[in-house]
Amino acid sequence: MKNNKIAFVGGGNMARSLIGGLIADGYQASNIWVADPHAAQRDGLRQAFLIHATAGNQEAIAHADIVIFAVKPQALKSVAQDIALALQKKKPLIISIAAGIREPTLNEWLGGHHAIVRAMPNTPAMVGSGATALYANGQVSKQQHNLAESIMRAVGLAVWVDDEAHMDIVTALSGSGPAYFFLVMEALEKAAVDLGLPAGTAHLLTLQTAYGAAKIALESNESTAALRMRVTSPGGTTEQAIKVLQEGQAPALFNAALLAAHRRSTELAELLGASP
Ligand SMILES: NC(=O)c1ccc[n+]([C@@H]2O[C@H](COP(=O)([O-])OP(=O)(O)OC[C@H]3O[C@@H](n4cnc5c(N)ncnc54)[C@H](OP(=O)(O)O)[C@@H]3O)[C@@H](O)[C@H]2O)c1
Repeated sequence: MKNNKIAFVGGGNMARSLIGGLIADGYQASNIWVADPHAAQRDGLRQAFLIHATAGNQEAIAHADIVIFAVKPQALKSVAQDIALALQKKKPLIISIAAGIREPTLNEWLGGHHAIVRAMPNTPAMVGSGATALYANGQVSKQQHNLAESIMRAVGLAVWVDDEAHMDIVTALSGSGPAYFFLVMEALEKAAVDLGLPAGTAHLLTLQTAYGAAKIALESNESTAALRMRVTSPGGTTEQAIKVLQEGQAPALFNAALLAAHRRSTELAELLGASP
């Protein structure tokens, strides 16, 4: 599996994270190609990972078994149409990480009948702790399915969704999710500083608490509600804080926030798919 030739079209932040993860996972640098218009970006990738880097998309994809589209969604249509003919001849597995571009739209831009996996990673992929949802169209073989999963697993967790519409929910949950947790951490830190704790201490304790809570939840079979109740002793301090959060409608607010993000994700997908 690790001998497949992989070409990245677009060598920005997300491609860099994925390439780093793949190399750390045992993929050979000589099998990885990246195309990006910026010389500095290409030099940086070559020096860091000893991979092939070129300004030409056609050159990068020439021998690829897997082509990963890692350009901004707005750039994807022209990038895809430019290399569609070359891809029609070889029919590699296509993986697109571009947010919001639906599989039938990308397939049409590429001339049709391609095996396409859509992946929605998030920014913690940059530190190897990403959460990625994957969706495969009907042309993707079992072997290609495994390949796509192993690539995204190089930067964290990877889960499959069967219904492409779920990618908009994923975008609202884990795609935008790091920002929600940053907001909660920001608010907690400020509250502790307002109570008199030194800023540096408040910062460190907040981050480690968020990390520890996520680690317990990941390692436990219990629901998050059960874990919350376990640390909420009757008559204790946590109970007082949770009561304030619930009376202030914190769960309903998160519900409304996710609804808004989901609505926007759907709108953007329609706009991007219809772009001239
Ligand atoms: N970052 C995230 O957390 C995240 C999460 C989920 C999904 N994604 C998706 O991942 C994709 C990449 O995001 P990113 O943050 O890595 O973006 P990025 O840092 O802007 O990287 C994209 C790179 O592709 C280059 N590019 C532009 N046109 C190109 C072309 N015709 N051929 C080859 N390369 C070209 C860009 O150059 P220019 O700067 O000149 O345009 C840039 O260097 C996006 O579609 C985004 O929706 C990102």
